[in-house]
Amino acid sequence: MCGKRKGGCEVLEIENLTVSAEGEEILKDISLDIPGGQIHILLGPNGSGKTTLLRTIMGLGNLRVEKGRIIFKGQDITHMPVDQRARLGIGIAMQKAPVIPELTLGELTNMMGEKHGGTRNASQYSQQLNCDYLQNRPFNENFSGGEMKRGELLQLLIQDPSLILVDEPESGVDLDNISVVGEALRNLLKARREVEKERSGLVITHTGNIMDYLNADRGYVMLKGRILCSGNPRDLFEEVEKHGYEGCKECQKILQKQ
Ligand SMILES: Nc1ncnc2c1ncn2[C@@H]1O[C@H](COP(=O)(O)OP(=O)(O)OP(=O)(O)O)[C@@H](O)[C@H]1O
Ligand SMILES: [Mg+2]
Repeated sequence: MCGKRKGGCEVLEIENLTVSAEGEEILKDISLDIPGGQIHILLGPNGSGKTTLLRTIMGLGNLRVEKGRIIFKGQDITHMPVDQRARLGIGIAMQKAPVIPELTLGELTNMMGEKHGGTRNASQYSQQLNCDYLQNRPFNENFSGGEMKRGELLQLLIQDPSLILVDEPESGVDLDNISVVGEALRNLLKARREVEKERSGLVITHTGNIMDYLNADRGYVMLKGRILCSGNPRDLFEEVEKHGYEGCKECQKILQKQ
């Protein structure tokens, strides 16, 4: 199922979204569409609003939508609680995940597996992501940066959402585990693409490494809460590497002609 209001098959449609926190505008007039089966990449300097955009789509935190709408598979979810969004099929791997001392990673992932009708094999995914040795540890308590990332991805694999929001999956992950994380993400996206051609993703990266594993369709550069450029994600990344984010004001003109 997908939204067909624009004649295509968009899984996610964001229309003129303006978001504030504690009285400050953080996102300004953001619009983007992600069709079914596509993976889009979000680039931008520290503090530009990338995480805020993902958190707003998921419905997390004390963020206030001042203007605009978020449509998921044709349904307006702008003001929907986070758990309903998750049930509809949106999942997030966060940049900074919360610590839950009362629950071990194993308890959390087994509960998630059961919720999904027992069809997800939590232990198989746990092995795949080198998370086995973390099973009996309180969730995220004293986890290293890379362990937290793998734990976040593990939850996504079990949840099996149709829209995945991934915030800097390679950040803090060592060279051996980058391929583990990259392959897991690739399989997660590919599996559904082949079956339903519907799973979509919005992935934030600073290093671009994750693009070696994902066949990304489109990229955006966010600067000071606005989307400045969009285009082929690899071209965008190369432009940013050459000219920096401020230079994006120029590359915007080039890329929009493509
Ligand atoms: N809940 C909040 N309350 C107040 N300010 C916030 C809140 N959330 C985010 N901000 C501010 O909004 C700006 C954008 O933050 P955000 O985390 O979205 O940046 P980012 O692009 O993800 O940066 P990074 O690359 O460092 O992760 C920052 O200045 C941040 O301090
Ligand atoms: Mg961030």
